[in-house]
Amino acid sequence: MPTTILAIETSCDDTSASIISDGIIKSNVISSQLDHSKLGGVVPEIASRKHQKNIVYITKEALERSSVDLHDLDAIACTNGPGLLGSLLVGSSFAKSMSYSLEIPLICVNHIKAHALSHTINKADIDFPFISLVVSGGHTQIMYVESYDKIKIVGETRDDAVGEAFDKCAKIIGLDYPGGPFIDKLSKKGDPHKYKFPDTNIPNLDFSFSGIKTSFLYFIKDNINNDKNFIKKNINDIAASIQFKLVEMIIKKLRVAIKKYNVSNISIGGGVAANSLLREELSILENDHDIILNISKLEYCTDNAAMIANYARFMFNDKKFSKLDVVPFSKNR
Ligand code: KG4
Ligand code: ZN
Repeated sequence: MPTTILAIETSCDDTSASIISDGIIKSNVISSQLDHSKLGGVVPEIASRKHQKNIVYITKEALERSSVDLHDLDAIACTNGPGLLGSLLVGSSFAKSMSYSLEIPLICVNHIKAHALSHTINKADIDFPFISLVVSGGHTQIMYVESYDKIKIVGETRDDAVGEAFDKCAKIIGLDYPGGPFIDKLSKKGDPHKYKFPDTNIPNLDFSFSGIKTSFLYFIKDNINNDKNFIKKNINDIAASIQFKLVEMIIKKLRVAIKKYNVSNISIGGGVAANSLLREELSILENDHDIILNISKLEYCTDNAAMIANYARFMFNDKKFSKLDVVPFSKNR
């Protein structure tokens, strides 16, 4: 009999359920909450209420699409953190009640670790060690991955995540949330070297994106004072210049990490991995350092339950099960 696991992901604003059977993803259903786009960002209270509304339907859909019956399940996995506490509580309570009623083990998965291994979905052989970069609206982390459970965060943001910086800069120039994809699109027609933004000198492999966001805000304000149509006239160049700076900040640190840890493999995950300039720069880096670049499929880059199911398959093999009184956590410990 194949090992079959149902995984639930509700760490932020996406409700997702996935079935994995014998290491292969059979379904990955994601419901993205569009309500937040009008509000300029994720509103935690709205997110958790939406998860409550969606979770049963999404789970049913994941079971149906994979033709798996509830009684075929060997374990239930869920994201236990980090994330928005209210959102996590919906998914983890749901997973716990299923584990209890079906009398099968509960597997609690760390969201960041699952992102770090998302490129291993549907793969049997994994080349450890590698450096993993996770860049999204909630995280900016560089990890040194020695095995599935030996993952060390070697660099992270001290304030905003890079996706958050994309979104906040986009908001300043009047773009909808999430603004990252709009900045990416506008940048294609713009000059990335037209405007310069200051460097932030953060030591080691850590990042800081709040300073760049503030200097971008003052740059826009100053220019609007001189010409109220400044944004309209220069939007492509503004987008391309800020995108160039944000991507440069990430690539700089990644180069240092590759050298320091002397790895021949890197993986990239998180929503910002969709960025076209970042992808271009990563392929340059791949050639420069003679490394293998593993980028997750787009569907597995953003928040999704398939990456939770994928991580749970390793934990299941090692019988790393959780008790029902385990509590979700908002920040990595
Ligand atoms: O992984 P994700 O879906 O959710 C979080 O965990 O946050 O990432 C969403 C983030 C948003 O900040 C969004 O603006 C950013 O990823 N993003 C992009 C692009 N596509 C998504 N940022 C820059 N360029 C893109 N093409
Ligand atoms: Zn995430």
